[in-house]
Amino acid sequence: MSDAVVLVAREGPVATVTVNRPKSLNALNAEVLHALNGAMAALSADRAVRVIVLTGAGDRSFVAGADIAEFVGATPEDAIALGRRIRRVTDAMVRAPQPVVARINGFCLGGGLELALACDIRLAADTARLGLPEIRLGILPGGGGTVRLTKIAGSSVARALTMTGEPIDAARAHALGLVASVHAPEALDAAVADLTARLAALPRFALAQLKASLNTAVSAETESALEFEIQAFAQCFSHPDQAEGAAAFLDKRKPAFAP
Ligand code: COA
Repeated sequence: MSDAVVLVAREGPVATVTVNRPKSLNALNAEVLHALNGAMAALSADRAVRVIVLTGAGDRSFVAGADIAEFVGATPEDAIALGRRIRRVTDAMVRAPQPVVARINGFCLGGGLELALACDIRLAADTARLGLPEIRLGILPGGGGTVRLTKIAGSSVARALTMTGEPIDAARAHALGLVASVHAPEALDAAVADLTARLAALPRFALAQLKASLNTAVSAETESALEFEIQAFAQCFSHPDQAEGAAAFLDKRKPAFAP
């Protein structure tokens, strides 16, 4: 397999974009986000592409979040830049005229769940674990998580998931409406292929209009909420708990947060 951090494969009208850092459970660093942005820009403008699939390399992880190594020494300004890098990718996914399908093959945490929530339809392996654990690092989701999770699953679910930071399994995510369907890992690819074939056969123009209409239905107050979230995310980077959370994770120890 190529050592590029993002792979793009085409099979007829279906393009599959794979985050390819399996040793880091496909964590999102600046290079990955830059490459994802480029891939999304190219694919969304390509009329031969009728459906885009987003997934992670390997059998353990979709994307295990933003790369925590990049949080070390990060300032609020760095946090704004990170939030905006994720936002550029999620904006590109939302604005793409084609449906974007998340193939959730394992850990789908933090920025990984934020990417998945920006997809149109999510399919998960029954081994997947989904969550927004940022609070445990002394920060909050800064890539659209508080806003999209609230819109998709409701405020009660969003508060429970983000305030505890505890991940849920795929069956629970399905029950909460976060994923459309759950499959045995060996059946996930067939389920994705079946869905993408059905989507690719639908009328392109109407599907694009439908997607734009569905986007508008949820976007009325989303813009200001997304902006607020980035600012709040950035605030965390002026508090010592952020540095402690990242350092503790990387040292593999329990964080000692301010009382
Ligand atoms: N950023 C950077 N590196 C990450 C990462 C992340 N978000 N998630 C996993 N990794 C790295 C680990 O540091 C480890 O690297 P190493 O082999 O060099 O030590 C490797 O990926 C494997 O992860 P590990 O923690 O050893 O696997 P595990 O099976 O014990 O645990 C998770 C898996 C997903 C539960 C755990 O890695 C985790 O909690 N990751 C962070 C999730 C998170 O907080 N995401 C939100 C970030 S804002």
